[in-house]
Amino acid sequence: MTTTPHPNTRTVAIVSQKGGAGKTTLAIHLAAAATRAGQISLMIDTDPQASASQWAEWRKAAPPEIIDSAPPRIAAKIEAASERGAELIVIDTPPHADLAASKAVECADLVLIPCRPSAFDLAAMRTTIRLVELLARPAFVIFTAGPPNAPLIYADAIELVAGFGAQTCPVILPERAAYRHAVAAGQTVFEIDPGSKAALETEQLHMWACEQLNMSIPLHPLAHERMSA
Ligand SMILES: Nc1ncnc2c1ncn2[C@@H]1O[C@H](COP(=O)(O)OP(=O)(O)OP(=O)(O)O)[C@@H](O)[C@H]1O
Ligand SMILES: [Mg+2]
Repeated sequence: MTTTPHPNTRTVAIVSQKGGAGKTTLAIHLAAAATRAGQISLMIDTDPQASASQWAEWRKAAPPEIIDSAPPRIAAKIEAASERGAELIVIDTPPHADLAASKAVECADLVLIPCRPSAFDLAAMRTTIRLVELLARPAFVIFTAGPPNAPLIYADAIELVAGFGAQTCPVILPERAAYRHAVAAGQTVFEIDPGSKAALETEQLHMWACEQLNMSIPLHPLAHERMSA
């Protein structure tokens, strides 16, 4: 079920009760990947820490557009953005915030739960999974900032997530210095290093999200290069 009033708008909520899970980094890069693929994309920042809005301030008028919202206003902001033609809306949420997280999840067509593949983070993620289950939205755990080449770690983490009754996103965004450098400079990995692994992984994530959302799937430049190689 789509809660947004415009059939061409899809909303993705990024939620995790755990601080520092990678929510804002993921939200920024998903919206940026959509913009790069030609979609009209914007972010809604519901976090009082306003990290995404700070990042927007650093990059001046460069897209994606970021607007802020108090939790009760999220649905109205989505409606207004839809009327302005938004195709993909990404909502960034604060940690430990039941109201912002539940309002964002209520409005979402897809929920992504970023989580580091470590025992403490995985255990803490259960609270977020319960919230999403209560609201019955399609949701996937996405592993962030873990080691890039550690199949056994991810196999164990996937099993644990399945044990919680949740699904795992097949795309992983492992630890890449490019994310830290980009965000600190008010940029994206596409801007500081367009050929990087981080850029390719983010493109793949966006393509996967479009598939989940029944949107037409753009062929990103790096994915295209890979397929023709
Ligand atoms: N895939 C990644 N590779 C490397 N560093 C990452 C990655 N994802 C996030 N980080 C880093 O981890 C830190 C926390 O990330 P971020 O601010 O996105 O988390 P958050 O969940 O939004 O935090 P908060 O709960 O405080 O809002 C930042 O320094 C960010 O640069
Ligand atoms: Mg954040």
